[in-house]
Amino acid sequence: MGRVQDKVAIVTGAAANPSLGRATAMRLAGEGAKVVVTDVNEAGVKDTAAQIEAAGGEALALVQDVTDENRWKEVINATVERFGRLDVLVNNAGIAVLAPMSELTLDDWNRQINVNLTSVFLGCKYGMEAMRQSGGGSIINLSSVAGLIGLQTCTAYGASKGGVRLMSKSVALEGAADNIRCNSVHPGVMWTTMQAQAVGSDKPEDTDVSPDRVPLGRLGTAEDIANAVLYLASDESSYVTGTEVTVDAGMTCQ
Ligand SMILES: NC(=O)c1ccc[n+]([C@@H]2O[C@H](COP(=O)([O-])OP(=O)(O)OC[C@H]3O[C@@H](n4cnc5c(N)ncnc54)[C@H](O)[C@@H]3O)[C@@H](O)[C@H]2O)c1
Repeated sequence: MGRVQDKVAIVTGAAANPSLGRATAMRLAGEGAKVVVTDVNEAGVKDTAAQIEAAGGEALALVQDVTDENRWKEVINATVERFGRLDVLVNNAGIAVLAPMSELTLDDWNRQINVNLTSVFLGCKYGMEAMRQSGGGSIINLSSVAGLIGLQTCTAYGASKGGVRLMSKSVALEGAADNIRCNSVHPGVMWTTMQAQAVGSDKPEDTDVSPDRVPLGRLGTAEDIANAVLYLASDESSYVTGTEVTVDAGMTCQ
């Protein structure tokens, strides 16, 4: 028996390689979940589904822009049609628009909030409807250390991630009566395609993980986050809702 055996999960933003979404989808599938992987990147998300199937799991790849309300309804319907229910939703898709305030345009701000925050509202809204039909479920929203503390160039990104943190608590309260849990996950510095873009290098060693910034002194892996999401998706966390799971090697404890 896997730790999420036969649960039906949606993971958004599961195309990039490496990425938190892809690693999470593979980890959930490896523990017995049937996983719907979605992304704007069609080739990438099909590749993730193929990897899951090659490892003996079950997956469905769907193209989805998480800012599109109608597409959310279609994705949830397609999930229920294919696998019969929805138990787990991982709102993971995101972008990082990093710039000082002086350079940040209103368009940048709106794009950042739409992709990282409005999308999570839509996912929670329509995901909860399907989870009520399933007798409950677990929603896991990817926030960030930037949703807990202020960071340079993170005005818009941090606002979006702080919003995800508090929205998750309201969703937890609203979902509790229907056995729907909702928690946020706060990664530190993890090696993914986004991190490579942020540092402008495809070499992991070019990321600053000095102990004054990252107390454990190493770059996180996508699997470090996938493991935390797996716990929140599983019944092992059945008494955990409305909280933050910080996976940051100690970045925010000082
Ligand atoms: N990598 C880190 O260190 C880190 C730290 C803190 C938080 N996070 C958060 O974790 C999540 C995943 O980050 P990652 O590092 O794996 O990023 P990534 O860029 O490596 O992967 C993100 C995926 O989301 C997809 N995506 C982007 N916009 C989309 C849209 N509108 N609709 C659907 N899919 C879309 C991309 O195509 C990509 O496949 C994000 O929400 C990010 O903000 C990451």
